[in-house]
Amino acid sequence: MHNAALYANVNIFQRNAVKKVLKQFAPLLQWRKAGGDLVLDVGCGSGNTTTKILLPALPSTINRLIACDLSDEMLKYAKQYHNHPKVSYEKLDITGPIDEFLAKYGLFDHIVSFLCFNWEKKQREGFQNIFNLLKPNGDCLMMFIVTTNAFTVFTDMSKTEKWSGYMQDIAEHIPIQHYCDLANVVNDLQVMIKSIGFTRSNVEIVEATGAVGSYADYRKFYTAVNPFFERLSPTNQEDFMDEFLQRIMKMYREQKHETEFFTSTKLVVIVARK
Ligand SMILES: C[S@@+](CC[C@H](N)C(=O)[O-])C[C@H]1O[C@@H](n2cnc3c(N)ncnc32)[C@H](O)[C@@H]1O
Repeated sequence: MHNAALYANVNIFQRNAVKKVLKQFAPLLQWRKAGGDLVLDVGCGSGNTTTKILLPALPSTINRLIACDLSDEMLKYAKQYHNHPKVSYEKLDITGPIDEFLAKYGLFDHIVSFLCFNWEKKQREGFQNIFNLLKPNGDCLMMFIVTTNAFTVFTDMSKTEKWSGYMQDIAEHIPIQHYCDLANVVNDLQVMIKSIGFTRSNVEIVEATGAVGSYADYRKFYTAVNPFFERLSPTNQEDFMDEFLQRIMKMYREQKHETEFFTSTKLVVIVARK
């Protein structure tokens, strides 16, 4: 997902999910009484969630918010459209080497990450880096998708004659938790987090459901999060989205939601302390 402008225009569902999670879980983070906290946002994307949702939810006494992403396009967009005196954007792959980043910024009081780890196959390496980037007693709040109907539809389409050739790497784009039992997801994450060295952790599944406006909004929303879109020819892009939307709207019609332009997602929220 690298179309930053498209993502920034249609991520209202994501922003609402982040708002809901921050309201419920940010009070569990331990803010310094004297202020001056250093905060890291991992996988900041287009920067609008960082500056418009995250920053206003943090104590005004924080020192700085460093927002990182591995996508050059996202960072370029974020720097151009979502600049803020307290925010610095920086390139970082949270699953790769962190030495240079650490040398530049030092350790953090708090690390947050929203809707990033569902794209990650190397989740353990990412969580380990988050642990290594935290000060002693530092804490983190991570939220990512474990399951959503779009992943089921992508999987179904990857098995069809028409689309299979474009979707050979489907497993790369589906969260490792999507086909697991939710009870195991919570337990496995708790075990992993503890084994990394976090002293306290809380892992919860949270529901995020809602309507996504009109058909046009719905199409843009799923185009922005479609990992296969950019590899298709323009004609195939249209055909793919037509078929994807028919399939997903049928699912939601059958589930009898108030509208077929619906999305239903299960998120996992982790609050942990070093
Ligand atoms: C769905 S966007 C979420 C953006 C923002 N946090 C929000 O909630 O709107 C996920 C972002 O995570 C970034 N990302 C994925 N894997 C990453 C990694 N290993 N390290 C840093 N960023 C990553 C992607 O480039 C993308 O911009």
